[in-house]
Amino acid sequence: METTTIQPSTVNTASTDFLPLQGTDYVEFYVGNAKQAAHFYKTAFGFQSLAYAGPETGVKDKVSYVIRQHKLTFVLTTPLRAGNVIADHIYKHGDGVKVIALKVEDAKDAYEETTKRGGKPYLQPTVLKDDNGEVVLSGIHTYGETAHLFVERKNYHGVFMPGFIEWKSDYNPAETGLLYVDHCVGNVGWNQMNPWVKFYEEVMGFKNILSFDDKDISTEYSALMSKVMSNGNGFVKFPINEPAEGKKKSQVEEYLDFYDGEGVQHVAIATNDIVKTVAELQRRGIEFLNIPDSYYVDVLDRVGHIDEDLAPLQELGILIDRDEEGYLLQIFSKPLEDRPTLFFEIIQRKGAKSFGKGNFKALFEALEREQDARGNL
Ligand code: FE2
Repeated sequence: METTTIQPSTVNTASTDFLPLQGTDYVEFYVGNAKQAAHFYKTAFGFQSLAYAGPETGVKDKVSYVIRQHKLTFVLTTPLRAGNVIADHIYKHGDGVKVIALKVEDAKDAYEETTKRGGKPYLQPTVLKDDNGEVVLSGIHTYGETAHLFVERKNYHGVFMPGFIEWKSDYNPAETGLLYVDHCVGNVGWNQMNPWVKFYEEVMGFKNILSFDDKDISTEYSALMSKVMSNGNGFVKFPINEPAEGKKKSQVEEYLDFYDGEGVQHVAIATNDIVKTVAELQRRGIEFLNIPDSYYVDVLDRVGHIDEDLAPLQELGILIDRDEEGYLLQIFSKPLEDRPTLFFEIIQRKGAKSFGKGNFKALFEALEREQDARGNL
């Protein structure tokens, strides 16, 4: 399989883009303890308190905290009792991503265009109103128990959406330079990558802009295959991974095993100064995959000149890759919960539009050392 890059300008023209997306609106996590999760994301990652919904606002069965940093918005939701879809989701999957919400001009139109192409309804168009205007939500299912919500907020002026009140807090740790969601990666089961590629093509009008096969992404032990799906304007990118046969269990298999099904593997978050951001995150206790010093011995032979000094990149474990359009700097956190499931990537793009293919081998060898330490290799 060849790795091919399609320039965004050729991906989709306005006339064929039946699902124009304005970017990621928010990512919602179902978590076992939203109060503590909000504290963790504020303290460790520098998110700011934004909005709250719970018993005090008339919501009787769950609590949601909304936190934000620049254009990056997370919703952390926990159930107040057992025996409901949120509690069941957490029991089965652990903490994880439930919703990748996408900002649209017209949520009803997004719902009609996607469901008529085979999208499975998750939420019929619903208008939420309060004194600050209205938000229209709709949604469809994607892989596993994950959903895409379409959020139309052009007629809303409140802090988040109806049902939420502003969350004012006296505890406001400084931001760490996180800007927005660069991409969200899904892990799907054996032989499921192509059906989900087809789903994103047919139901959502995305295009496959990059493909990696097990020859690109394999180590001595494990392998995976990946295809990157992008919407028309390139604002929303969803790589899809599936496991491939290796000598031992692949990292995608380990994820599927512990998440008990398909789901979001990592959220990649953009920064304009990765050295500063990652140094601060490490200072606040976020752990990243350890990259061997040997990676840095010949990395500049592979990627050529970069603006940054190599020493701080090596000290922090930041990886470097180059494509035809520029280079990128990236680093991967360890899992953010005890199950080896969801993790974050921090990425700084300097022209490159790709995803760090040249780093996959170094990265996966690092991942496998972790997997081995857990006894799952
Ligand atoms: Fe990534």
